[in-house]
Amino acid sequence: EQVFQGRSLLAEKDFTRAELEYLVDFSAHLKDLKKRGIPHHYLEGKNIALLFEKTSTRTRSAFTTASIDLGAHPEYLGKNDIQLGKKESVEDTAKVLGSMFDGIEFRGFSQKVVEGLAEFSGVPVWNGLTDEWHPTQMIADFLTVKENLGRLEGVNLVYVGDGRNNMANSLLVTGAILGVNVRICTPKSLFTDQKIVDMAEGFAKESGAKLVISDDVAETVKGADVLYTDVWVSMGEEDKFAERIELLTPYQINMDMVKKTGNEDLIILHCLPAFHDAETEYGQDVKEKFGITAMEITDEVFRSKYGRQFEQAENRMHSIKAIMAATLGNLFIPRV
Ligand code: CP
Ligand code: NVA
Repeated sequence: EQVFQGRSLLAEKDFTRAELEYLVDFSAHLKDLKKRGIPHHYLEGKNIALLFEKTSTRTRSAFTTASIDLGAHPEYLGKNDIQLGKKESVEDTAKVLGSMFDGIEFRGFSQKVVEGLAEFSGVPVWNGLTDEWHPTQMIADFLTVKENLGRLEGVNLVYVGDGRNNMANSLLVTGAILGVNVRICTPKSLFTDQKIVDMAEGFAKESGAKLVISDDVAETVKGADVLYTDVWVSMGEEDKFAERIELLTPYQINMDMVKKTGNEDLIILHCLPAFHDAETEYGQDVKEKFGITAMEITDEVFRSKYGRQFEQAENRMHSIKAIMAATLGNLFIPRV
């Protein structure tokens, strides 16, 4: 039975626990084929459109290389290259792209746009990040957790930082579906949207996951198996630097926080890009204005034995490959 074929990945909530687990395991399988040099051209002759309203290193590179490894042809359509959002509606764009491409990736601001592309294109659409969700990232992240810890069920994942962004939303809901105990550690003013918490609680009832939203760092990070953080200022909210630095400094991952977990086998994840030193142009700017050289994670921790962020980044490619192959390929996938 083909339960994936023809489907879009717009938000994690649309997939069951077994389906998400399948995608994690299929990613591991495709990673193994890649490492062993075994071809896997499941999407031979397909055309893939890559729409980006926001910048990207990992997601763009992963969709591009994954498409090529699968035998498909990717085409990058940046926000200044096409008419979408300026001269042409989502509906008209979707109808045109759907008549030429077999699958569409979209990264941008609005969840409504990615939903509109799926509604009107007639082909699978993959959400490469919106203001609300980052679902392709979730398959890579939970693959990385499973590779490192050998399991997902019952793992304690603590996300520290901006509790209201796409990463917090996605981790909370996906973890809840998968039976991972997710704690969001963030100041009260950045507590995750109640609608999202309610949705996650609904899934947690099914899976047995324990969810916590708290501003108490010491209490919340204690016993973490995975510490996760993300930028304090997401794409599109660059005017919030001063406010976020003020609010989130106590939530920085530093060696003191690592000790507070009490877990020597801890692993640390970050979806990247990370602000861990002032080496970048952006970093220099923040250093001049605010006198700091790291935001969400210190350079010491970033480079420590706990960090798994580069394995995680590589896993974006394997997992995006799995997502595209499952939803677009002519594969036999037992009903999961
Ligand atoms: N993690 C992630 O989505 O990275 P990019 O923004 O570089 O794609
Ligand atoms: N919250 C970040 C994630 C980047 C992958 C952003 O939206 O910019």
